[in-house]
Amino acid sequence: MGTYYLSTPIYYVNDLPHIGHIYTTLVADTLARYRRMAGDDVFFLTGTDEHGQNIERAAARQGIRPIELADRVVSRYHDLWRRFDITHQDFVRTTEPRHRRGVEEMVRRIAAAGDLYVAPHEGWYCSSCETFYTEKELGQPGNLCPTHDRATEWKSEENVFFRLSKYERPLLEWIDSGAPAIQPESRRNEVRAFVEQGLRDLSVSRAALEWGIPFPGRPGQTVYVWLDALSNYVSALGFGAPAGAGGDLYERYWERGDVRLHLIGKDIIRHHCVYWPAFLMSAGVPLPTMIWAHGWWLRDQKKMSKSVGNVVRPDHLVERFGPDALRYFLLREMVFGQDASFSDEAFVERYNSDLANDLGNTASRLVTLSRQAFGGRTPPVPCDDNPLIALAAEVVAEYRQAMDGLAFQGALRALWRLLAEANQYLVAREPWKTIRSEGASDALSRVLWNGLESVRIVATGLLPFMPTLAPRVLAGIGVAEARGSLAALAWGGLPTGRELPALEPLFPRIDKEKYMSEIPTPPPAPTPAPEAAPPAGAVPQPGAAAAAAAPANVANVIDIQQFGAVELKVGQVLLCEAVPKSEKLLRMMVDVGEGAPRQLVAGIAKAYRPEQLTGTQVVIVANLKAAKLMGLESNGMVLAATQADGQPVLLRPETAVAPGTRVK
Ligand code: MSP
Repeated sequence: MGTYYLSTPIYYVNDLPHIGHIYTTLVADTLARYRRMAGDDVFFLTGTDEHGQNIERAAARQGIRPIELADRVVSRYHDLWRRFDITHQDFVRTTEPRHRRGVEEMVRRIAAAGDLYVAPHEGWYCSSCETFYTEKELGQPGNLCPTHDRATEWKSEENVFFRLSKYERPLLEWIDSGAPAIQPESRRNEVRAFVEQGLRDLSVSRAALEWGIPFPGRPGQTVYVWLDALSNYVSALGFGAPAGAGGDLYERYWERGDVRLHLIGKDIIRHHCVYWPAFLMSAGVPLPTMIWAHGWWLRDQKKMSKSVGNVVRPDHLVERFGPDALRYFLLREMVFGQDASFSDEAFVERYNSDLANDLGNTASRLVTLSRQAFGGRTPPVPCDDNPLIALAAEVVAEYRQAMDGLAFQGALRALWRLLAEANQYLVAREPWKTIRSEGASDALSRVLWNGLESVRIVATGLLPFMPTLAPRVLAGIGVAEARGSLAALAWGGLPTGRELPALEPLFPRIDKEKYMSEIPTPPPAPTPAPEAAPPAGAVPQPGAAAAAAAPANVANVIDIQQFGAVELKVGQVLLCEAVPKSEKLLRMMVDVGEGAPRQLVAGIAKAYRPEQLTGTQVVIVANLKAAKLMGLESNGMVLAATQADGQPVLLRPETAVAPGTRVK
């Protein structure tokens, strides 16, 4: 027992929450509830990351101010957390004055340690992760960001730098120190290898980015979004608040706290396990005691993300089955630390087998038999001598060990072992036959009591996972007060002779075929694609029918309207030349039948010489948002088939057609 601080990453506000986002928060909430059951003094923090170029651009696309976009998305997060009954103590927004004070204090301390200097900065910048990459780190072809698989931009500016290189050794010592601060082990090794290969100083300011916190003492510069965002973990506790203004949260949970845990996804390991500890070391602030990186929710083998367009939003699942079924599924399905695939089919199967059948049917069968035999009450005679007692003790120990080690799947499997065993126990003793032969005997009472007691222990262990339904299971088996304490996991807690109302079905079985045919198509993204007419001759299909008729193994099906939103056109290459200082890029002027030609920049220089392209035709995505590559604006994207070795092969019409001809 002690203090237990835990945080989720703070979420960007240019996207509505999807399964990947809610997962970390559901894990954090489950853990927070469990730690409270264990008697810890818990502080659970979540929030939103609202500054940066990405958000500035997303707002501009919608014709609103960044803060308006942030307010909208934040209210969506609040709704969702309410719906999932998330028990966070605080929700921090990086646009709040208290957060700005925390960031300013962090910068002040880092500067006082002599760790900041000004220097020119250039490199490949991904605005999705707001990170500079070296050419070596980028994907092929087209200078793609290794995380987001989208084009990076060449940036060059004067920045404030943080002496990250100075912290190479201290970071290695921290990583190697007794306590395994970075989990799982494989991630720790990854971070270690990254630090060991040498750290370059990090630019921590941005010029010409208005939507951010002004860099103290550097007019015209804003604080690098990651230094800004990471500081939320202490700014929310009152770090940097005027003396006496913020209470003692910072001292209690951070400076003198026992556990300081960050839960993150694996894509933001470097920021949390290298930059953040280095900032803290420089600022003289204690480091997190543990950083746990979970894997990704995948769909169609790819990380679920807005930029890939394969996200699953939680809305229809929550609307249909309530929040607890999804909570259970996500925590049961993913081995914490590894990737997992989401599919509606797997969701329905797990719901039907684990919740409707194993838990729901066992509980309702026992309740019905008890009511029948004992006048609508729990069995009058308990039992303190039967094989389930030893198993329950074993299962509870396994459950606690798993929960202490954040192995949520393991904890649930342990509980299900007890359920399975209780079922076997009932099948072997056939109480439904005993009722007929013996009536309400003591022997029958003991058998039913044992079964119900096993369900009580399982439902108690489920309290952190299913905060709405687990108390209802408990109430349904005659336990009026759902005691949120680990002591309640001990055998023997089921009251005898307690009134037992008829159990309403808690987990009605899902008709899989019917459900699969009714799954709604994903709701439109917050920034809808421009309207486009469907191609001539195409038969419009309702979303559900289109999804039902989808080819096997295709998870991210789109309908004909969605496809029609992408404008593919034939372009005539009027001019093509290499981009200076780049091995990969070619610059082209392309006639797309619009009067003036367009400039396009494509990462195909390793496969094509400029003279091979001039005068030929290509196919381009004509309504793609403009992007900058090596400082050159690219107004569209040239289509190519990318072979296994990364070499592109251009797509072209079989015979020449008029420039601007639509491809559909
Ligand atoms: N704003 C930063 C975090 C700053 S923390 C100081 C950020 N935001 S995010 O909205 O893009 O992502 C938030 C979290 O969601 C990250 O931990 C990320 O790993 C997680 N996920 C986003 N998509 C995911 C999946 N498909 N699967 C699992 N989690 C993933 O990064």
